[in-house]
Amino acid sequence: MTNDAYSLAGTAAAALKAATGLDSFDVALVMGSGWVPAADALGATVAEIPFTDLPGFAAPAVAGHGGKIRVVRTEAGRSALVFLGRSHLYEGRGAESVVHGVRTAAAAGVGTVVLTNAAGGLRPETQNVGDPVLISDHINMTGANPITGTTFLDLTEVYSRRLRALVREVDPEIAEGVYVAFRGPTYETPAEIRMLRTLGADLIGMSTVLEAIAAREAGLDVLGISLVTNPGAGLASEPLNHEEVLEVGRATAARMGVLLAKIVDRL
Ligand code: HPA
Repeated sequence: MTNDAYSLAGTAAAALKAATGLDSFDVALVMGSGWVPAADALGATVAEIPFTDLPGFAAPAVAGHGGKIRVVRTEAGRSALVFLGRSHLYEGRGAESVVHGVRTAAAAGVGTVVLTNAAGGLRPETQNVGDPVLISDHINMTGANPITGTTFLDLTEVYSRRLRALVREVDPEIAEGVYVAFRGPTYETPAEIRMLRTLGADLIGMSTVLEAIAAREAGLDVLGISLVTNPGAGLASEPLNHEEVLEVGRATAARMGVLLAKIVDRL
């Protein structure tokens, strides 16, 4: 099965090149919930392809996860593959479906992937709603892994130090933290949030970790950025809801878009 997953990504990359008329791309960005509105600030749209036009992609199930790939030309002339939406483990299609976009981008020749997500903040420094936080490392508590077999991949530096330093040149104030992923789709209980804080996590979400692993397997440099949309469950008085996550994205779209554009142009 695993060989099939890699060759399916190769087929999707060929279809993507044919559909866009472009032969190479510099960078891929995965826009998590909360980040899709920021995509417009990245640069000029060159082409847009619905996921469902490409082999191996399924339409995302969640509101706020757009469901297409946009090719953007940035001001500095970089070509970016922007994934407006992603597949999640909780949608039930398995880890290979979750990482198909990243593997397709790798097969299409990108050298860097920027993984964005919406996350709950677990510590004072990572709890300012509307702030971006750099992901320094992750804890994979999904119980899943996109790699099957005997590839004992080194994960000592999943999230590139060089790329994080570059982001800090653009935004010296940006916080940094460890992202933990649960499978979802439920939000966490307050007891789970207390456990995660004890384990050393700073951010909680339901994505990114499997994509980061697949990206490292493919030899890509990875940059991870969370948009803090809420304090973790039980850390504030209100219950959590997905609409709040999307609203933070809408409210911060311009700021996050400008941040990403500056980063992409410095890659
Ligand atoms: N938990 C899990 N996923 C999330 C959260 C959260 O608090 N906020 C945004 N995505």
